[in-house]
Amino acid sequence: MAPTDPKTWIKLSWIHVSISQIYMNANDTILSIKGLSKSFPGVKALSNVEFCLKRGEIHALMGENGAGKSTVIKVLTGVYKRDAGEIIYNGAPLDCKSPLQAQEAGISPVYQEVNLVPNLSVAENVFLGRQPIKGGRIDWKTMNRAAAKIIRRFDLEIDIEKNLGDYPVAIQQMVAIARALELNSKILILDEPTSSLNVQETERLFTQMRRLKDEGQAIIFITHFVDQMYEIADTVTVLRNGTYIGTWSVAELNKLQLISKLLGKEAEKLSEVTAGKLGNASGDGRGRRQSVVEARGLGKTGGIKPLDLRVATGEVLGCAGLLGSGRTELANLLFGIDVADKGVLLVEGEQTKIKHPRKALQLGLALSPEDRKDQGIIGDLSVRENIILALQNRKGWFKTLSRAEQQEIADRYIDILNIKTPTADQAIKNLSGGNQQKVIIGRWLAANPKFLILDEPTRGIDVGAKTEIQKLIVELSKQEMAVMFISSELEEIARCSTKVMVMHDMQVSTTLEGDDINENTIMHAIAERHSDGE
Ligand SMILES: Nc1ncnc2c1ncn2[C@@H]1O[C@H](COP(=O)(O)OP(=O)(O)OP(=O)(O)O)[C@@H](O)[C@H]1O
Ligand SMILES: [Mg+2]
Repeated sequence: MAPTDPKTWIKLSWIHVSISQIYMNANDTILSIKGLSKSFPGVKALSNVEFCLKRGEIHALMGENGAGKSTVIKVLTGVYKRDAGEIIYNGAPLDCKSPLQAQEAGISPVYQEVNLVPNLSVAENVFLGRQPIKGGRIDWKTMNRAAAKIIRRFDLEIDIEKNLGDYPVAIQQMVAIARALELNSKILILDEPTSSLNVQETERLFTQMRRLKDEGQAIIFITHFVDQMYEIADTVTVLRNGTYIGTWSVAELNKLQLISKLLGKEAEKLSEVTAGKLGNASGDGRGRRQSVVEARGLGKTGGIKPLDLRVATGEVLGCAGLLGSGRTELANLLFGIDVADKGVLLVEGEQTKIKHPRKALQLGLALSPEDRKDQGIIGDLSVRENIILALQNRKGWFKTLSRAEQQEIADRYIDILNIKTPTADQAIKNLSGGNQQKVIIGRWLAANPKFLILDEPTRGIDVGAKTEIQKLIVELSKQEMAVMFISSELEEIARCSTKVMVMHDMQVSTTLEGDDINENTIMHAIAERHSDGE
């Protein structure tokens, strides 16, 4: 008999709701991993890892570079064979032998490095491997129309008939994500999807993620961005050195606790990592410093509009601006990847023309590129060989470094940058994404340049190493190096720079100096320009 007393009724229905919640939760598990282990020669990448994912959940997977995050995904999706462990998917054991099998089962990963085909159109990439066919041929019209609709959801203004490779990495990443979303996946896996996205693009992605979550989709989100994790994730699992540290509801774990789990340090000892300001290396009071690189009206038809800049010894010139504002293009122009056809460039006061990176290197310039996969890593070479490359190039190939010298240099940068590798002789392709990036940064540091351009050096790099790199920038400037530091993270630009150049539409819109430099002023300078221009 149904209770008539409203209080009893409310109580009983509450119990009913709770029980059904528990029942639903138990049934809502789509993926459960237990005792997962995987070793590579010399490296125990995973040992006894567990992980549980529910429908309608955004589950963050976090850990330092080399912690094993990508390996979990690769074992799950059949890229690697596991040594031990159990994977239960949709209530049944799963043992994917290949990524295709995983995709067919509804598990679609978007990897750290975009692995689509640059010389196919955007639309073809969205439908790669399942292009609509009509009369035995690709039905371009249908495919282009469908692709345009998918891309529109991301507010991307791109021509879907153009080659994917014509667009910057960030756009390519968005296309990769759009593609995965359209694969009707049950589990969407995003391995550091936002590392090459700007604030707006990240927001667009998050909107899509929330929509999918509301539709009951399960999402694994790998990221190093602590704030983004708090913004979007419901649950977080932390790995450290291939071991499982724990799983928490995001609401129950504060930032300091999280960072302490990530780094394995007690919360009290973290002040160094989370400290606000780094020493500002502005050589104030020491007179006008010697100019290392100076541009007057430097520009390129169809690219960077004529601009002036001056970076002196010991200065860190921060370069901020939205994606497409011209930051990377400017770096390329200074380093001879692109060739200026307007204005004048002076290196240490001497007028010069840099038509090739080789020339730039000889003059003592170095550029650690944004797209380290394409422009930086030589996968089959060892960590040691990758590190000494720029220095060897600068010295000339007739004065080869001895094996012992190479080893010493490699070991030094492995140590400074805390690169996780069993030895310097490991092939770089076997390192985790973040550790590969550290090797490339090490390469340009080892070249000991007078002017170092760092294009997004901390992208994809974990919390601890990020601070190390920021400190290193300040340290280098104290040793009189001139540095240009391009970053999308305003906080780190503000922390490290002595001067900040804000770019917009291929030109410098504002320059900030001294006390005017903080996150807020930079943000305002960017926003102002942007709202003017649109
Ligand atoms: N194919 C491989 N051969 C040898 N070692 C490997 C291979 N793949 C990964 N490793 C090692 O396994 C460990 C875990 O790497 P993984 O790529 O999973 O790290 P990650 O947590 O994704 O790091 P990141 O944040 O840098 O991407 C690292 O020490 C890495 O060098
Ligand atoms: Mg990884």
